[in-house]
Amino acid sequence: MAGSVRSAASRENSVRLLSDGRLRHIAFIMDGNGRWAERRGMPRRFGHSYGAAAFKKVVRYCGDIGITCVTVYAFSTENWQRPEAEVSSIMKLLVEYLGECERTADRDRLKVRFIGDLSRFEPDVRDRFTALEKRTADHERELNIAINYGGRDEIVHAVNRLISEGRTSVTEEDISGALYTAGLPDPDLIVRTAGEYRTSNFLMWQSAYSELYFTDTLWPDMTDRDVDLAVEEFYRRKRRFGRV
Ligand code: IPE
Ligand code: IPE
Ligand code: MG
Repeated sequence: MAGSVRSAASRENSVRLLSDGRLRHIAFIMDGNGRWAERRGMPRRFGHSYGAAAFKKVVRYCGDIGITCVTVYAFSTENWQRPEAEVSSIMKLLVEYLGECERTADRDRLKVRFIGDLSRFEPDVRDRFTALEKRTADHERELNIAINYGGRDEIVHAVNRLISEGRTSVTEEDISGALYTAGLPDPDLIVRTAGEYRTSNFLMWQSAYSELYFTDTLWPDMTDRDVDLAVEEFYRRKRRFGRV
């Protein structure tokens, strides 16, 4: 009870703090699913399944406190090196979530976008990604799901695209505009769970001036309160962007 009262007060606080709109884009490196399961003596895939549930709660909560753009790191270009059974359990969850989005994105006003090298996915799944992106394009709550995503891969893709358009020299704006995230604001805050202090190839270009927040909470244990703590910390930071 005390917890929920505290959480309600804190939510009000976050909403109040958020009203100035400085936190437009929050990104999450959803880490710790495997450890969460292993600590319970369960196979790692259970961690991913509980992690998927936490992800849905967190996305909803971010919308509730007025954050209009959320990006999550769901699967990296390096994660293919995991055992095949684990990779396929994550892919299964992804396709399940895709189905869920197809049913609920209109109701939830989610504007869904898949960022990463999607060529690695089956054509029918890719068509569903594209159809969902098109169908939800005029919704207000942006949700970007990074799958087969790598920051270096994204920059290489962008540069190659510019070269194929005949460019022989490029500007920062050209590169930003050729990334998978073209058109999105850079993330204001990047949250990584599970006590790891690195960004693991996530949004390398876009995070140049992002605030970074680390928590020991394992992703499946992530609650509204953990989001509040990150948001409150963000609002305590002084962003200078190189100025005084
Ligand atoms: C994050 O959890 C999910 C993915 C990387 C797909 P992990 O599976 O990395 O969990 P830990 O880090 O092994 O605990
Ligand atoms: C980063 O987590 C990728 C995702 C959360 C999808 P990892 O667990 O793959 O990162 P490392 O291996 O600990 O750096
Ligand atoms: Mg991990």
